[in-house]
Amino acid sequence: MKVLDIEGGHELSGTIRISGAKNSSVALIPAAILCDEEVTICNVPEISDTDNLCDILKALNVDIKRASESIIINPKNMKNIEIKESFSTKLRASYYFMGALLGKYKRAEMYFPGGCSIGARPIDLHLKGFEALGATVKNEGNKYTVEAKELRGASIYLDIASVGATINIMLAAVRAKGRTIIDNAAKEPEIVNIATFLNNMGAKIRGAGTSTIKIDGVERLHKCFHEVIPDRIEAGTYVIIGALCGNELRIDNIIPEHIESLLSKLEEIGVRIKIGADYVIVSKRDYYKATDIKTLVYPGFPTDLQQPFTVLLTQCHGKSKVTETIWENRFMHVPYLNKMGAEINVKDQTATITGPTKLKGCEIMATDLRAGAAMVAAGLFAEGKTRITNVEHILRGYENIVEKLTSVGAKIESLEI
Ligand code: EPZ
Repeated sequence: MKVLDIEGGHELSGTIRISGAKNSSVALIPAAILCDEEVTICNVPEISDTDNLCDILKALNVDIKRASESIIINPKNMKNIEIKESFSTKLRASYYFMGALLGKYKRAEMYFPGGCSIGARPIDLHLKGFEALGATVKNEGNKYTVEAKELRGASIYLDIASVGATINIMLAAVRAKGRTIIDNAAKEPEIVNIATFLNNMGAKIRGAGTSTIKIDGVERLHKCFHEVIPDRIEAGTYVIIGALCGNELRIDNIIPEHIESLLSKLEEIGVRIKIGADYVIVSKRDYYKATDIKTLVYPGFPTDLQQPFTVLLTQCHGKSKVTETIWENRFMHVPYLNKMGAEINVKDQTATITGPTKLKGCEIMATDLRAGAAMVAAGLFAEGKTRITNVEHILRGYENIVEKLTSVGAKIESLEI
């Protein structure tokens, strides 16, 4: 079993360089199969989620070369076969193969995807979108077969501005006949990054980043070179860690506008931040005041930063509230923070945090990816030693987390026990 051991209480100074965005990369890799030529994607993080997607590509007989931060994908000899359950369930983003395979071959056969247990995570909106484009969906147990004689552009209104459904429908629609319009589309920066990639390959997508996306189908896509945007959630996690333990901690290679909702909350509670063109510098302070946050779709406060932010709220004076509106089950980090000394009560979808409270190191568990990031933040801040179990969750989303933190003065090691 892999664990992370942390000795808390050390000041962090220096520079952490942010990697390419996980939630972009995991859609770009499946999207690459939509063309028949070689595609180069650079700034792809080396994390287990991207490794697992590359394993799916290999199983589909796609040629892949990994050269440091770039992946070169050549689907020329690809075979459209069923994606096995053991592959689909390794991660959530395996579902992007549904849209990509349907778009390219008019047929996709795979299983319900895996991912963090942060809610029911249905895929009904993805499937409704495929059906609107002319596909039929067959579902037996966990297996889904989606196929169409022909895909035709359609007007699709999403009941929820779902990131996954917006991307999956774009993937299916780029080679459909005619125009597709997605209304109430998600507006996250990752959507824009995927649309730019598809357009670089010759797709005709307009409006990504707004709530109406128009896609005019094209017959083929060609090779291209594309760069993954910086990971705004990784960036936000380290900025929060800086507010807890930083002394002029610089978080580099970021797009500060992508974390504006976080930065303005940090400024409101009293964190000292200097914002540059592609970096922020953050230092901790002795006094922070309580605040409330509510998770919302972009550009609102991101659900993926709610758990690490809660750790910071344990150090704020007064009562803070965190309301989670996206996922039903995203408070699994709370019992572990309370075990460390926090005072947090959860009722329905709201956590009330009374602070400040001392945090003491102890054995805690990463129940999901961002809960794991919260555990790391808490361990770095706490007095004494913390052991985090179930760290596989963390390694799915944070590239070189141990090396990055060690380089700025943290005492953290990854051990096999
Ligand atoms: C993406 O998940 C991210 N994952 C999540 O990040 C992130 O929390 C989420 O978007 C919201 O920002 C990836 O990009 C791989 P949604 P996704 O579809 O696409 C409901 C992380 O920590 N819904 O926008 O799965 C759903 O249940 C991960 O990096 C339906 O009801 O999220 C949720 O309540 C965790 N039916 C809401 O919509 C559907 O068909 C938003 O989900 C689809 C979604």
